[in-house]
Amino acid sequence: LKNGLAQTPQMGWNSWNFFGCNINETVIKETANALISTGLADLGYVYVNIDDCWSSAARDSKGRLVPDPETFPSGIKALADYVHGKYLKLGIYSDAGVFTCEVRPGSLYHENDDAELFASWGADYLKYDNCYNLGISPLERYPPMREALNASGRTIFYSICEWGVEDPALWARDVGNSWRTTDDINDSWVSMTRIADLNDKWADYAGPGGWNDPDMLEVGNGGMSYQEYRAHFSIWALMKAPLLIGCDIRNMTAETFELLSNKEVIAVNQDPLGVQGRKIQLSGPEGCHQVWGGPLSGHRLVVALWNRCSRASIITARWESLGLESSTSVSIQDLWQHEEVAENAVSSFSSWVEAHNCHMYIFTPWSISISDI
Ligand code: DGJ
Repeated sequence: LKNGLAQTPQMGWNSWNFFGCNINETVIKETANALISTGLADLGYVYVNIDDCWSSAARDSKGRLVPDPETFPSGIKALADYVHGKYLKLGIYSDAGVFTCEVRPGSLYHENDDAELFASWGADYLKYDNCYNLGISPLERYPPMREALNASGRTIFYSICEWGVEDPALWARDVGNSWRTTDDINDSWVSMTRIADLNDKWADYAGPGGWNDPDMLEVGNGGMSYQEYRAHFSIWALMKAPLLIGCDIRNMTAETFELLSNKEVIAVNQDPLGVQGRKIQLSGPEGCHQVWGGPLSGHRLVVALWNRCSRASIITARWESLGLESSTSVSIQDLWQHEEVAENAVSSFSSWVEAHNCHMYIFTPWSISISDI
C-alpha cells in the first residue's frame, strides 16, 4: 500500500502471543517503558500494538466502540498520548467481520466511523482480523477499511490479518502494508517450521510498502529451545517478516534479549533492498539440512544454514545455489558469533550446525567493481 509506510518490515511488540485477552492499560504502559529501558526501541521496535480484547462487548448509544472500562479505564487516547510521549507508536486492533475473534464488536459496515475514531485517538497502526466475516470475500471487506483509514487524515499502518485463506499475497499489496500468509503461530518448533515453509511460497510478492506476515514472534515464550528461537528469529528476519515481539518484555531473560537485540540480524530484516530471502537448497533426510538466503543491498547476500534434523550435521552452501560464480571470492561475517569466519571463500561454505540451530551470515563477494557500488 502506497501510504509511505512499511518501506522496511514493521518492528515492535504485540500483546496477543503472551497475554491473549489478559491485557490492561498498565501492561501496555509497562511494556512501552520496557521497550525504552531495555534499548529495544532504539533498535527499531517502536510499535506497541494492542490486540483483541481491548473493547467492551457492545458499542455505545451513538454506535462508537468503547474501551473496556475495567481494563482500559483511561481510554485509548490517553494510552496513545502516553506511548507517543516516549516517541513510540500505538497500534489498535479490529476485525473485518461483525465480531472480533473474542466476540467484541467488529468493524464490518462501520469502517468509516471506526477509522475516524482510531485516528482521533492517535492510533498509528491497525491490525484487522478475519473472524465472523459472514462468508463475504476479503476483497469486499479489506479495501473499505483502507479507504476509511486513508480518509481519516492520519497515516495509519494497515496490517491485514486474513490468515492466508484467499492467498492475500496475490491481492493485498494495494490494500495493506502487510498481510498474514498463514493461520496462527503457536510456541512450538512444529508450528514455527510449518509457518516458515508456508510463508516462503509467497516470497515474490513482498517488497517495500507491503510484506508477507508469517505471524508474530514467539521468542521468549518458553515453548522452544534457545537454538530453536535463534532459528525462528533468524528466518523471520531473513524472510523480511514483521518483527513483532510476542513475549513479556518486562520479564524477559538475558537469552531472550540477546536474540531479539541482535543488531546484525535486525539489519538484514531492515535492509533497504527489501527482498524476501527464501529456501534455496535442501539436502539430508527429508531435506532437513537447509540453506536459506537472498540478496541484500550493496551486492551482499544473507545466507542461513538451518539444521531441521534432530542431530548435528555439516551443512554446505554452494555458490551455484546462491547465484554466484564458483570462482567468486567471498568474505563471510557470522551474525551470531559477530565475527568474520572467512576472508576469501570460494565455491562453497560449510559449517557444523547443531540440531534445530540456525547459523546466519552475510556474504560479501569481492568481485565488485567501483561502478557497482
Ligand atoms: C486471530 C489472529 O490471527 C491472532 O493473531 C489474534 O489477533 C487473535 N485472532 C485475536 O483474537
